[in-house]
Amino acid sequence: MEHMKKLYPSGCNPLFIKPSRPLPKEVAVVGAGTIGPDIGYYIKSALPSITLYLVDVVEEALKNAEKRYEEYASKAVQKRKMKEEKAKEILRNIVYTVDYSRIKNCDLVIEAATETIPLKQKIFETLEGVVAANAIITSNTSSIPADRIFNTIKHPERATITHFFAPAWRSLPVEVISWEKANRDTLDFLFWFFAQTGKVPIMTDNVLCFMLDRIFDNWCNEAAYLLPYARAAQIDKAAEEFVFTGPFYVLNMANGNPIITETNTLQMEEGACYKPAPIFPSVDRWLTPRPGSKVEVPDDIKKLIRERMLGILFSQSFDIIDRGIGAKGDLNYGCQIALGFRKGPLDIMRDLGEAEVMGIVKRFDGDRPGFPLPKSSYDFYQDFKRFLLVDEIDGVIVITLRRPEALNAISDEINNEILSVLKENADKPDVKGFVITGYGNRAFSAGADIGKFPQTLGNFSAAAQYAKDCAEVQLFMDRMQKPMIAAINGMALGGGFEIALRCHGMVATKNAFFQFPEITLGILPGIGGCIVPYRKWPQGAKLFHEMICVARPINAKEALEIGMVSKLVDDIPELIKTAVEEVKNLQGKIRRIPDGKVEIPEFTLPDPPVAGKQALSKEAVSIIIKTIRAGAGAATFAEALEAGYIGSAEIACTEAAKEGISAFLEKRKPQFKD
Ligand code: COA
Repeated sequence: MEHMKKLYPSGCNPLFIKPSRPLPKEVAVVGAGTIGPDIGYYIKSALPSITLYLVDVVEEALKNAEKRYEEYASKAVQKRKMKEEKAKEILRNIVYTVDYSRIKNCDLVIEAATETIPLKQKIFETLEGVVAANAIITSNTSSIPADRIFNTIKHPERATITHFFAPAWRSLPVEVISWEKANRDTLDFLFWFFAQTGKVPIMTDNVLCFMLDRIFDNWCNEAAYLLPYARAAQIDKAAEEFVFTGPFYVLNMANGNPIITETNTLQMEEGACYKPAPIFPSVDRWLTPRPGSKVEVPDDIKKLIRERMLGILFSQSFDIIDRGIGAKGDLNYGCQIALGFRKGPLDIMRDLGEAEVMGIVKRFDGDRPGFPLPKSSYDFYQDFKRFLLVDEIDGVIVITLRRPEALNAISDEINNEILSVLKENADKPDVKGFVITGYGNRAFSAGADIGKFPQTLGNFSAAAQYAKDCAEVQLFMDRMQKPMIAAINGMALGGGFEIALRCHGMVATKNAFFQFPEITLGILPGIGGCIVPYRKWPQGAKLFHEMICVARPINAKEALEIGMVSKLVDDIPELIKTAVEEVKNLQGKIRRIPDGKVEIPEFTLPDPPVAGKQALSKEAVSIIIKTIRAGAGAATFAEALEAGYIGSAEIACTEAAKEGISAFLEKRKPQFKD
């Protein structure tokens, strides 16, 4: 793990890596059972123009995989998640084969065959005889350490484990195992490749069951040990407090009983406490209803289940952190995006508080002795950023918003975390400044988290206060002596765009775009969005009218032309390099947002107002115009911001806001009345 820590400090954003090799043109997946075809489908969807080889010894499995691919693609088209043209391209150039020699030109091969060491070793020996000596070859095992699989191959430096989660075509995380024989290029490439193709790679140490399966396997195993006290359905029901789907229901879906027996037997190398529950081999399916069904669980039984399930969850989490198997942020986030936890284990600990957590741990140790206990203080396990990756490059703190499942939408907690990073570093003499960017290559941020909005709708003072609370980050940025640059890596919308606007400079990739979609939700950008652009780039005022009043998006080139963005670049490593340079150039030269009145042109908007084909609310547009005018006419920047908060509170009390926000959350088109 020391090796991994040096290579990948916990903050590292994988897309900052400049890999030594390009994206592969030919990829093979060996094993057409359950997960192999799904891995192939994810890769082909992300890179439709490549050739994908699906290899198996059983023709039938290959035929089934082909059918599965056709179903996936046609479902995606039906649900309008994919254009027909793309679906066709995905299904082109897939070779279903039993002949290993076909894959000789593959640059990347992922093995996803049965979990037995001799079989895997045989496959890798065969692969080495077929593909080039520098082709990257990986195994999708969920439990077997790399040194046990790759101990017979000639070039282990290009081999490691890449562990996917079901369903692999959609589930975001992939554990990439750092082990001592894999070279830096291999790990760098894989870490970068997965992020580049839309996954969330998580660097994990080379231990039995890696990181997330240690949680999952032991969670399920503990559930089985509770069977003398409760029925499977009751255990699932009680567990629903923490997970969307209880352990037995998941085991049924995944045919997981033999897997738990196998993986927990392996973990017994670390202690007899890991022994698999003896009931597993004798049960085929568990009697448990769909998640959410009504099941009576008496209070005392519920308490017992809760304590034991939390006990194992906490024990495993402490162990993972104490042994450095993975980073705290990755553990917490990974449990949510890979394993279906409602909150990460460290979030659950935070909610319960130190006394309760330590009480649970102590009682668990009494009931189930032998499991790891915490080696550090409660505060140590809570000291990490949940939604941010924080890197340091050349004395510049680079903040990455990591919430790709919601296109990096900014929740209150993200806002607080950004503020805390700024505060922690604002006075450090060796920190030159900050860069902020978004995870992945699709979004800087899709805006403020819309899920939170309904709470303030219809309540003027609550809405005004909420806008002010959200603005704390920006107000801090206004006062900072150290420059902050927004590195825009894709869409910058709404509240995300408002953070970028307040930075002291902006650089962007050529595919970036900017938009205030608020009016399509019946609201307005209240954290400076109606104010700041006019004061910083008055030459763009006409364009800003359209952006704010009718949600007109602008592309990176237009943003460059009006001076909002200072440089456009081709890729993310270049983006970060440029942003870091900009921070250095701006030392002592931050331009503050000016006070005084600002001249703005008249509004010439479509009547009735529309955004694309979406009819807008006239009332909402008129509140926006009033707000922009009030902001421009204010004598000071602070008063102008105040006008923005008031405008956002006023609009939050309209029918338009109610309709717009409900429509988004209900995934339908809004029907504004006036
Ligand atoms: N707040 C909360 N969640 C958001 C979000 C936001 N601002 N923007 C996107 N998401 C979530 C979506 O709800 C979806 O979650 P789900 O998978 O649980 O349903 C996920 O991110 C992916 O977005 P999706 O809408 O499925 O992607 P898409 O490619 O079809 O559309 C957008 C992308 C950006 C056009 C669309 O997500 C959108 O309109 N977002 C809202 C933008 C906005 O109005 N921002 C201003 C708010 S201040």
